[in-house]
Amino acid sequence: MGPPPPPPLLSLPLLFLLLTACTTTAAAAGDGCSKGCDLALGSYYVGSDQNATYIGKLFGLGDNYRLLSPYNPGRPNLDFLDIGDRINVSFSCQCLARPSDPSATFLAGSLSYTVHTGDTYNSIADKYSNLTTADWLAATNTYPPNNIPDIGTVNVTVNCSCGNSKVSGAYGLFLTYPLRDRETLDSVAASHGFSSQEQLDTIRKYNPGMDGVTGSGIVFIPTKDPSGSYLPLKSSGTGSLFPFES
Ligand SMILES: *[C@@H]1O[C@H](CO)[C@@H](O)[C@H](O)[C@H]1NC(C)=O
Ligand SMILES: *[C@@H]1O[C@H](CO)[C@@H](O)[C@H](O)[C@H]1NC(C)=O
Ligand SMILES: *[C@@H]1O[C@H](CO)[C@@H](O)[C@H](O)[C@H]1NC(C)=O
Ligand SMILES: *[C@@H]1O[C@H](CO)[C@@H](O)[C@H](O)[C@H]1NC(C)=O
Ligand SMILES: *[C@@H]1O[C@H](CO)[C@@H](O)[C@H](O)[C@H]1NC(C)=O
Repeated sequence: MGPPPPPPLLSLPLLFLLLTACTTTAAAAGDGCSKGCDLALGSYYVGSDQNATYIGKLFGLGDNYRLLSPYNPGRPNLDFLDIGDRINVSFSCQCLARPSDPSATFLAGSLSYTVHTGDTYNSIADKYSNLTTADWLAATNTYPPNNIPDIGTVNVTVNCSCGNSKVSGAYGLFLTYPLRDRETLDSVAASHGFSSQEQLDTIRKYNPGMDGVTGSGIVFIPTKDPSGSYLPLKSSGTGSLFPFES
């Protein structure tokens, strides 16, 4: 009697597929991505001397800030913004790599910012309402922090999420939200309609390491599209080739 045939599930090609699937979805925030998605939203906190024209320009809309209206159903008139208002900005969520390490991919929008004399990575992060940070700008641009040219552009990298088939197939559009003051992942989730224990558990899985953090860092919250429904995860949007991924 010979040895029993190997169980079909452990065939080498399948094992390879399983391992690949694990690495490509290792981190909820998009580390190790191979593909991005068309749309992500960011929550922009309006500061002094900032209006919709100013914010639209930061996000590549020129003077066309009205393109933000569909993402801001709660604010029918973008012509009058007050300090402390939050508006949703839109951008495409790409799979990018660090200039210093092309193999380290992550999900982010890349906005082209025209430098003004005296700009620093800190002042630029502040103009973008902390949707990025000085450190992250330094890591994603080739200019050293003390040598940003007066004329030129800086890539403003704003992290985003396209969802994660390992967490839920129900969500495919996310809001990038920088925590301020006393805000936490749980408080922001609750203010966006996710307050049951089960919902909070789901939101935490999209935000590893952000549990218990107050007032700084970025969280990702599932969000509705302009038609008013949650956009389900697009399986092709994550580059999934695997039948067992939703
Ligand atoms: C921004 O999007 C969030 C999440 O969908 C929503 O709760 C909020 O009302 C939107 N903001 C405005 C000003 O409409
Ligand atoms: C924003 O401010 C600029 C400069 O003051 C002004 O030209 C522009 O019309 C304002 N835009 C809006 C939407 O209020
Ligand atoms: C950005 O973060 C800095 C440092 O935490 C804070 O002082 C500043 O008020 C924040 N700006 C906005 C617009 O949230
Ligand atoms: C953006 O994501 C990268 C990769 O996960 C991370 O190293 C970086 O700190 C994040 N940046 C911000 C501003 O959260
Ligand atoms: C901005 O991104 C573009 C495209 O990835 C790249 O060619 C350019 O060098 C970047 N700029 C800086 C200052 O790093």
